[in-house]
Amino acid sequence: MTAAVAVARLDDLAPGTPQRVEVEGHTIALVRCGDRVYAIGDRCSHADVSLSEGEVLCDEPSIECWKHGSTFLLTTGEPTTLPATRPVPVYEVILEGGDVKVKLP
Ligand code: FES
Repeated sequence: MTAAVAVARLDDLAPGTPQRVEVEGHTIALVRCGDRVYAIGDRCSHADVSLSEGEVLCDEPSIECWKHGSTFLLTTGEPTTLPATRPVPVYEVILEGGDVKVKLP
């Protein structure tokens, strides 16, 4: 059983604007869409590029790597477009009292 670690305040996350956080050796892109928050590994699986610098598509919901345009589902980390073929990790998010907590593996 892993503990959930507080990484941000919900009010500090602008909807549609990713925020990169470092926690216990994990680099994570937090993405708020409405009142939902997703946590996805920040490193693109195609090359060493920060996904938090990409564009968020809340309708899908996904994030697009700015380098070559692969999009990754925020729910599963699976790429939906090439050139990336491997998923990136996703983390369970818990919202508690205005805190955004992430469960680490
Ligand atoms: S580095 Fe992300 S798609 Fe190429």
